[in-house]
Amino acid sequence: MDTGTLPASPSLSAGTLLLLHAFPLSADMWAPQIEAAPPGWRVVAPDLAGLGESDDTPGEPSLDDYAADVVALADALDLPGFVLGGLSMGGYAAFAVMRRAPERVRALVLADTRPQPDTPEGRATRLAMLARLDEGGAAAVADDMIPKLLGPATRRDRPDVEQRARALIEANRPDGIAAAVRRMMGRPDATPLLGAIGVPVLILVGEDDVLTPVDAARQMHASVAGSTLAIVRGAGHLSNMEQPAAFNQALGEFLAGIGRP
Ligand code: MLT
Repeated sequence: MDTGTLPASPSLSAGTLLLLHAFPLSADMWAPQIEAAPPGWRVVAPDLAGLGESDDTPGEPSLDDYAADVVALADALDLPGFVLGGLSMGGYAAFAVMRRAPERVRALVLADTRPQPDTPEGRATRLAMLARLDEGGAAAVADDMIPKLLGPATRRDRPDVEQRARALIEANRPDGIAAAVRRMMGRPDATPLLGAIGVPVLILVGEDDVLTPVDAARQMHASVAGSTLAIVRGAGHLSNMEQPAAFNQALGEFLAGIGRP
């Protein structure tokens, strides 16, 4: 797990926001949040195993292995508690951390994600993606995913965001992408966790997210008592990259409301 995205000057007394990235990207997707970390907070954004600059070779096809890596990272950084955030696959990994070490999580940020496991149709789509990856590598995955990851306004008005997302995908190793696909396919249902979450929760979703739509976020919001829902206007699935100012504002208000862990 690479942690090279630690901000330049984290203060020892700062609260820590640990952010887990989406599929099939890497920690660099969190650049707009790292650059605008709220005062008093440091952002730690690891590359999940086999993705980004991580040179790990992911073994067992379990999402829980990402969670084990996250907890090991928190141990290595001497972090007894942290605010945990994840976008999409990062959210699935955040649920896995909640299963493994809930006592470490002071608050949870769930962006463009869902607690349900894959449906049979979803698994079939994943198998098709593995075949595409074999044939065309990361570039073929980028071709398939970009139209689903980015909302229409971003695709029309923000070619820089599209280029950035594509570059992050294409920089990934095929074996890391394949491992992530297999891990997501086998993930357990996290809905039983929702009613038991005892920490503050912020749910964010892009208004044009077609992968984990607003309705899914509303459903999650209804299941997590006391949670806050923020709908990011003009964004698709990668809401943090597409509309960073709105995303960061909702995140900043949430962090200000909970105080530093
Ligand atoms: C992601 O953005 O992490 C993926 O779209 C999640 C998924 O494919 O389920």
